[in-house]
Amino acid sequence: MLHRPTIAIIHLKNIAHNYKVLRSLQKKSDLFFCPMIKADAYGHGAPQVMQTLYDLGQRYFGVATLDEALQLREDFSNHNEFTNLLVFSPLFEESLPTALRAQVTLVLSSWREIENLEAAAKQYDMRAAKAKVHLKFNTGMSRLGFESQDAAELAKYFKASQGLELEGVCTHLAEGEDAHLDTGYSAQQFEKFSQIEKHFSGYKIHFHALNSVGLIASSFSEAAVVRKYGARPGLSLYGIKPAMKDLSEAQRTIWNKIDLRPVLELETQIVLTRELKKGESVSYNRQWTSSQDSLIAILPIGYGDGYHRRLSNKGRMLILDQLVPIVGTVCMDYTLVDVSALRESSKDLYSMRVTVIGQGKTHSVKAEDLAEIVGTNSYEILTSVSRRVPRVYR
Ligand SMILES: Cc1ncc(COP(=O)(O)O)c(C=O)c1O
Repeated sequence: MLHRPTIAIIHLKNIAHNYKVLRSLQKKSDLFFCPMIKADAYGHGAPQVMQTLYDLGQRYFGVATLDEALQLREDFSNHNEFTNLLVFSPLFEESLPTALRAQVTLVLSSWREIENLEAAAKQYDMRAAKAKVHLKFNTGMSRLGFESQDAAELAKYFKASQGLELEGVCTHLAEGEDAHLDTGYSAQQFEKFSQIEKHFSGYKIHFHALNSVGLIASSFSEAAVVRKYGARPGLSLYGIKPAMKDLSEAQRTIWNKIDLRPVLELETQIVLTRELKKGESVSYNRQWTSSQDSLIAILPIGYGDGYHRRLSNKGRMLILDQLVPIVGTVCMDYTLVDVSALRESSKDLYSMRVTVIGQGKTHSVKAEDLAEIVGTNSYEILTSVSRRVPRVYR
């Protein structure tokens, strides 16, 4: 039983829907596809999202950390078919025996990681199987990855490696918003990546480069190169369509038609209402004063739940399909909204349902809207929803 009405409703059928839409954007069915379920599937619950996609036949998944992968191995220990868990963050030496035991696939960015893993594999009884790895290349993000100059030597190295099997080569876009244009930063990255790819022509491996925006771009890109590569979508799987730069009218039409459905809804209920006289102030530091007699509703959600304090006096919520403004400072456990406009409904507002993120009949509050007010992106809005908020799966 839940003792607090603040919940995140996760619509798994929308995950399944978005997955099918995204897969259909790939022009070839054999292209690599690896849903990103790191950070607890962007706050949606990694085991539940993984299970939904597993049931649809998906067998590759991407996480950031070894701990995320280990937890999923445990959660999925009863599954018949093996799932490939790609761990994108580099590991220190001491974690490698655990990684080998869990049969995760490491994405490597340096010779040092290769040496360490090779040594660990030698120590570890691998039986007949080698440890599968992917190599990441830096083509412009300058975060993780080998440099292009290393490609030839790496290609040679993996032909002879005793303990490691190369299964994929990848890169990551720094500005995928322009991935549909044939001039732009992504085009330069694709060009570098196709040069790297040539060195691995003797291998039957996966080449992957596309995040959500890259994958969407690949469905209407001017440049053919973008369609060659496999995808690792995250955000779009959770129903958020990334904005893109300089779309032509025709491209905008295609973009509009891509039907992604939000997966997360955040809701709460009114626990108290309060009449305020004109001139009375609310919440910490008295950042809002009523300009007329007002009715205020107290909601049990605050920055302790990941509802950003920067939404103070700026954000809006949806009650009875009307947008109502946040008044005063968002607290750790409470937020106040002005519901004076709902008086006309003459409904008892006690325990009334409040949509914090979600869709009403005529209005909505999207993660993107909150991101804009907070001055961040929708990734951060989604992953901010804290552990205190129970996830309810529908
Ligand atoms: C290496 C890598 N691939 C893919 C993704 C997925 O990106 P997106 O959520 O924009 O689809 C991420 C996310 O940050 C990432 O770090």
